[in-house]
Amino acid sequence: MQHKITSFDQYQKTYQYSVNEPEQFWNEIADSFVWKQKWNKTLEWNFKTPDVKWFLNGKLNITENCLDRHLEKNGNKPAIIWESNDVNEANRTLTYNELHAEVCRLSNVLQNNGVVKGDRICLYMPMIPELAIAVLACARIGAIHSVVFAGFSSKSIADRINDASCKLLLTADGLYRGNKTINLKEICDEALASTPSIEKVIVYQRTHQKIDMQIGRDVWWHSEMQKAATHFDAVEMDSEDPLFILYTSGSTGKPKGVVHTQAGYMVYTYYTFLNVFQYEEDDIFWCTADIGWITGHSYIVYGPLLNGATTVMFEGIPTYPDAGRFWATIDKLKVTKFYTAPTAIRSLMANGIEFVTPYKLDTLRVIGSVGEPINEEAWHWYHHHIGKEKCPLVDTWWQTETAGILISPLAFITPTKPTYATLPLPGVQPVLVDAQGSILQGNDIEGFLCMQFPWPGIIRTTYGDHERCRQAYFASFDNLYFTGDGCRRDADGYYRIIGRVDDVMNVSGHRLGTAEVENAINEHPNVIESAVVAYPHDIKGQGIYAFVIVDKQSIDQGVVDTDAPFEEGAGIDNSLQLLNRAAFENEIRNIVSKIISPIAKPDKIQIVSGLPKTRSGKIMRRILRKIAEGDISNLGDTTTLLDPNVVEEIKQGAGISTKN
Ligand code: WTA
Repeated sequence: MQHKITSFDQYQKTYQYSVNEPEQFWNEIADSFVWKQKWNKTLEWNFKTPDVKWFLNGKLNITENCLDRHLEKNGNKPAIIWESNDVNEANRTLTYNELHAEVCRLSNVLQNNGVVKGDRICLYMPMIPELAIAVLACARIGAIHSVVFAGFSSKSIADRINDASCKLLLTADGLYRGNKTINLKEICDEALASTPSIEKVIVYQRTHQKIDMQIGRDVWWHSEMQKAATHFDAVEMDSEDPLFILYTSGSTGKPKGVVHTQAGYMVYTYYTFLNVFQYEEDDIFWCTADIGWITGHSYIVYGPLLNGATTVMFEGIPTYPDAGRFWATIDKLKVTKFYTAPTAIRSLMANGIEFVTPYKLDTLRVIGSVGEPINEEAWHWYHHHIGKEKCPLVDTWWQTETAGILISPLAFITPTKPTYATLPLPGVQPVLVDAQGSILQGNDIEGFLCMQFPWPGIIRTTYGDHERCRQAYFASFDNLYFTGDGCRRDADGYYRIIGRVDDVMNVSGHRLGTAEVENAINEHPNVIESAVVAYPHDIKGQGIYAFVIVDKQSIDQGVVDTDAPFEEGAGIDNSLQLLNRAAFENEIRNIVSKIISPIAKPDKIQIVSGLPKTRSGKIMRRILRKIAEGDISNLGDTTTLLDPNVVEEIKQGAGISTKN
């Protein structure tokens, strides 16, 4: 079977086949890989416990499929092209041969530092080729990588390291992001004070700034690599051995470690990359995500390399040195396929067309969008100004838990429709259900988006807590995987993602749980309680609106620090006359930055004397969401609340804050 779908008719036939004969369909894809031992059963599954296994008893190493098997034909083909944060720093290109050698060397380094199959390794790194090398070296030695986005705080790193008892930490002295230099090692050192499982820290020199190295624990990447050989036999892994853990926010409590396994992840990312982007041999593929997110795992590292493609890694940010950086880089590297997030598009759009017009962008063939709903205006701007109306815009819907794209156009092959993710990929069986879990038939309907059959990339468990996985994804509706998204299926059968229906926010394409942010805010000594909701934000898609109850007495006594610098961007709320309001808001934002990350800072903070709660004490977020959206016309019945008056007060407070 030819894996690459080449016509709409073939898509329809392949889709039907994948539904009628799912095991046969995936067998044929999996057959093309290098296996140390073939699987003897394709699929075992139930969504009750849940338990999903693909390609049972198969033995393989994913890096042999990403690297070794391409060497004979494509050893000298660029695997990674790296673009620095600094426009004046030269590109780095690693061919498949070179990448293979580096991965083997680092695998030896890991082994020399005591890593064995099954160990968990935390990666907290800049967007440099060494991050991709580290991911692959972990996979080659059979260790489970847990990449933590290098914008997270030391507390977030420590929590993630401890949750998985990571043995090693790979990091760098620092990183460059726009005009900032961030001391990564210092952030790590703070985390390492409370991570007893870490035995060794391997530090890459990127910024050459002065850092502390703890003798016996911390070693330099470059000196370890010098000692290491460029050959390393890939460790034999079972199809269902874990490949990686990636933490993501849910609707409750702390982030959970989504676990993906070897073979299913490999087959799924390979297949979706090939078909959605219609991969061609000469492609220069650029996904602008950070490898710290699932998009970077699947479509910077694994998907492209499994296909033998050339993948671009970018260290910087879209607006440095100016808002033309993406477009300049596309021309410079002759990028053919470009994949980014709506937030980036909206922010570049806001900077003005003069940052686009100097560039030709004539090498582009396909453009893509991921991570959040793309609004109509951004869709057309992207399609018109970047894709020049000739590149199909693939709006790809998927999640950390799904490993790869589930609903998306296939470039050139299936139709696109602004703001629609359109059609399911072969092997993907979406259904829309109502609140009772009944499957809604027909078209022109809206419901909760679920999957009724497993695909090879489906989440296997949440690390160390399988029950949490069941609760979060498989308990809402019987025998269905629940995505947490609301969705519409239009008259033509195309899917349009409406957004989360649970307490998960999507800020600039980053997932954050309301509870997570509330817990951080509540750490402020003057905060008694808080409730956080998302509201529509022009650039970020969603912004964070925090309703905060403060300990009025200590505020009145002037406990809030007046010396803290004021940060712009807050709505001013006069519902309580707070002397040191700006400083207080600033403290809240700092605490959230410190506990989670700057990406989780609330945009608006409203001080309230109470929160709308049911008699059983549950916060009525629906009401807060409406107020945050500025739509207070229809708040529904508030008479059943514990204290209906509180809604009036919050409305008034919000009215003032939105005017300011
Ligand atoms: C949202 C990112 C609309 C959605 C790959 C999902 C989208 C969550 C789209 C997963 C899209 C992702 N259109 N919404 N094309 N892609 N989402 O785990 O709400 O960071 O549930 O994975 O992002 O976010 P995650």
